[in-house]
Amino acid sequence: MNTPGEHHNKIKQSAYTHSDIIRGVGVGYRAEHFEYIEQNKPDIPWLEILIDNYMMDDSPSLYYLDKVAQNYPLTFHAVGMSLGSADELDFAYLEKLKQLIEQYQPVYVSDHLCWTSINGYHSHDLLPIPYTEEAIDVVIKHIKQVQDFLGRRILLENVSSYITYKNSAMQEWEFLKIIAEQADCDILLDINNIYVSAINHKAINHNIDAKAYLEHLPVERVKEMHLAGYTDMATHLLDSHAEKVHQPVWQLYQKALERFGNVPTLIEWDNDIPDFSVLQAEAKKAERIMQQVLKHVA
Ligand SMILES: [Fe+2]
Repeated sequence: MNTPGEHHNKIKQSAYTHSDIIRGVGVGYRAEHFEYIEQNKPDIPWLEILIDNYMMDDSPSLYYLDKVAQNYPLTFHAVGMSLGSADELDFAYLEKLKQLIEQYQPVYVSDHLCWTSINGYHSHDLLPIPYTEEAIDVVIKHIKQVQDFLGRRILLENVSSYITYKNSAMQEWEFLKIIAEQADCDILLDINNIYVSAINHKAINHNIDAKAYLEHLPVERVKEMHLAGYTDMATHLLDSHAEKVHQPVWQLYQKALERFGNVPTLIEWDNDIPDFSVLQAEAKKAERIMQQVLKHVA
């Protein structure tokens, strides 16, 4: 096993840039669609793999990962790095991730700006971080360790949240920007998460300006975007990934394309998963919006 720091100075982006390999709008690869995709090879430009589901050596899902890797460019999306935790990183987890990266050569590897474990306890939620200088130092240290260990850059994704911390000292976009620039990582911008957090924080008298969020992030670091559907719970929006993308999120996506340009985008759907054709239609809709915006900003 390599130790942290062993790959210092070897950090690089994926061997490919997104314009070489992935373009347009992909979808998340989920077990409900394994058979359909294998048999029909639907017209979709790329697929994102929830890589934590493939870490057991005897996982039957690995058979389908082998199959899909032969036919589509892939990205890996992780949930287990726990970059914002006060704990040290789990290098056994990262070693397994590294093996899968070497085997399947994903175009991107991403995880979240959050914490998921502490003192050996693993939460299944992506928990928000207080936006403080101290937390910045922790996350930067962890991202640098991960990137050194994997020998490549990662993409860092903004999560949705329902609370804010009293000691947060800056806006989320500011926190994300400082970390991305100082850790030298890229950004996976989840448009639905920005919208969900903005609405939920309004209910607790905290303002998140979604448009300012887009305006302040460094264009060159945004390498992927996510779209998903929330569920309206009347008192708040639940980031359920169980519905079609809602209209305000499409509008924000349009603004994001105007600023960030031709960025590969993913439709995420994780609960109440419908027929693949529904996901494909959402991807086509995003693709149409992307083409329309790019025509005007070109
Ligand atoms: Fe996402």
